Amino acid sequence: MKLVIGGSTGYVATEVLSQALKNPTITSIIALGRREAELTPETGSDAAKLKVLVCDNFGDYPDNVKAELENADACIWTIAITPIRLNTVPWEETCKVSRDYATTAIKTLDILRQPQSQEKPLRFLYMSGHLTLRSRDDIPAALRDSGLIDYGLLRGEAETLILNYAEQSHGAVQSCIVKPGLIDAPGVERREIPGIPHIELTDIAAAMLDQVIGGFEKDTLSNDDLARIGQRALVG
Ligand SMILES: NC(=O)c1ccc[n+]([C@@H]2O[C@H](COP(=O)([O-])OP(=O)(O)OC[C@H]3O[C@@H](n4cnc5c(N)ncnc54)[C@H](OP(=O)(O)O)[C@@H]3O)[C@@H](O)[C@H]2O)c1
Repeated sequence: MKLVIGGSTGYVATEVLSQALKNPTITSIIALGRREAELTPETGSDAAKLKVLVCDNFGDYPDNVKAELENADACIWTIAITPIRLNTVPWEETCKVSRDYATTAIKTLDILRQPQSQEKPLRFLYMSGHLTLRSRDDIPAALRDSGLIDYGLLRGEAETLILNYAEQSHGAVQSCIVKPGLIDAPGVERREIPGIPHIELTDIAAAMLDQVIGGFEKDTLSNDDLARIGQRALVG
């Protein structure tokens, strides 16, 4: 299967890429980013199936990028402005990067599929977060306390657009939203935010790969779902 990893230079995507390289079901990987994904000696050893693709316009893909994105079977989309970077990026840019880039990606990957690959649906997974909101009802205290209501609503709007796109595709596209809490890894300082659960980086990467390969269990996966699926996949 051909997998696109959107934002392949990031913290989570680096682990996704590492696990995807070792997974024999994935025969082709497009590591898409605004700069080149760096390969560790460990991942580099199995890089024959990998194409590192740099893109300078995620709002309107250049033709050379489109050519590489043709006939993808699945995409794990990780590009976003994360809360820690919110103060360094204008709000308009945050909306563009965290919402519009994802909706452009799902549409573009769908359009770029030839009839023969349309026999199977395109699986598009959008990485969101534990505290995102799809409506203003019942705003969680943790979101209000952290001053992230608008950001939570923005990410929730992106989730709705991604789910709606699949729903209106008559089966051509399936989408899934993952909502992890704080993602921990050895050697990375563990943050604590009241009300937000934790998940291991290896578990969430394994869970996302499991779901794009085997099919989405449901359209929205919680932190608990991801931990369960990831641990099961790693044991398997
Ligand atoms: N880390 C966590 O604990 C956590 C928890 C819950 C949810 N999440 C979600 O998981 C996803 C991935 O998180 P992460 O921690 O891996 O984030 P990250 O390390 O900041 O990676 C984000 C990716 O987006 C790219 N990106 C950022 N701004 C961009 C722009 N203007 N144009 C193009 N690409 C851009 C980054 O490229 P560069 O490498 O070039 O900057 C990087 O590839 C995000 O949606 C995040 O909200 C993360």
